[in-house]
Amino acid sequence: PVPVPVIAIDGPAAAGKGTLARRLAELYGFHHLDTGLTYRATARALIDRGLPLDDEALAAEVAAGLDLGRLDRAVLSDHAIGEAASQVAVMPKVRRALVEAQRRFALTPPGTVLDGRDIGTVVCPDAPLKLYVTASPEVRARRRCDEIRAGGGEADFDRILADIRLRDARDSGRADSPLRPADDAHLLDTSEMGIEAAFETARRLVDAALGL
Ligand code: CDP
Ligand code: CDP
Repeated sequence: PVPVPVIAIDGPAAAGKGTLARRLAELYGFHHLDTGLTYRATARALIDRGLPLDDEALAAEVAAGLDLGRLDRAVLSDHAIGEAASQVAVMPKVRRALVEAQRRFALTPPGTVLDGRDIGTVVCPDAPLKLYVTASPEVRARRRCDEIRAGGGEADFDRILADIRLRDARDSGRADSPLRPADDAHLLDTSEMGIEAAFETARRLVDAALGL
């Protein structure tokens, strides 16, 4: 069988991975999975059931029972859920269960876009195109603030910046599948790049990698 092309997008919180992944998936007619939602859904399910976030066997069982087709971004987007997600994401058994489901998703024809932290390094190491999207912590905190304010909420820049730094440290410092660019990833620093420019750059790289 012809291999299903996978576009792997990794990077830290609020770098613009999701925005890019959605637009690329739309352009190429590929399926998209925001793998962050799988960690968020696991954390959310534990919290909703009043269960602890640090019981690895329990969390892995919840992770294995997730239905990837039913991940609802609206109920998972909460800032506190992102923080809880990064706590369950340090546990190897949770990662094993979720990575297995993510790899199955990646095989869906005619092609897939997966974004997260370890797609190019662990989930789909053979992906023909890997992007590592990043931006300075200040720029990412600014984007998150704008997002919250656009939604009518109140945002404290200093607190959001501190949260972003904490999450960066946890995601990059963990032993299992730490956040880092794959050796063959293209680095895309969007600190001074708008969404359109980032999309154009990514599109050219995908076209070249997939021979389009
Ligand atoms: O998925 P990830 O957390 O990496 O980031 P995102 O949700 O795609 O983007 C976070 C915010 O930054 C969104 O509000 C985007 O519209 C914005 N953004 C931007 O202003 N400039 C970019 N080059 C990319 C994203
Ligand atoms: O939207 P944002 O970039 O803030 O976070 P997210 O992509 O929804 O991911 C939430 C948390 O899940 C991250 O901080 C990571 O700890 C974890 N995660 C992971 O470990 N591996 C992935 N492939 C995706 C997310």
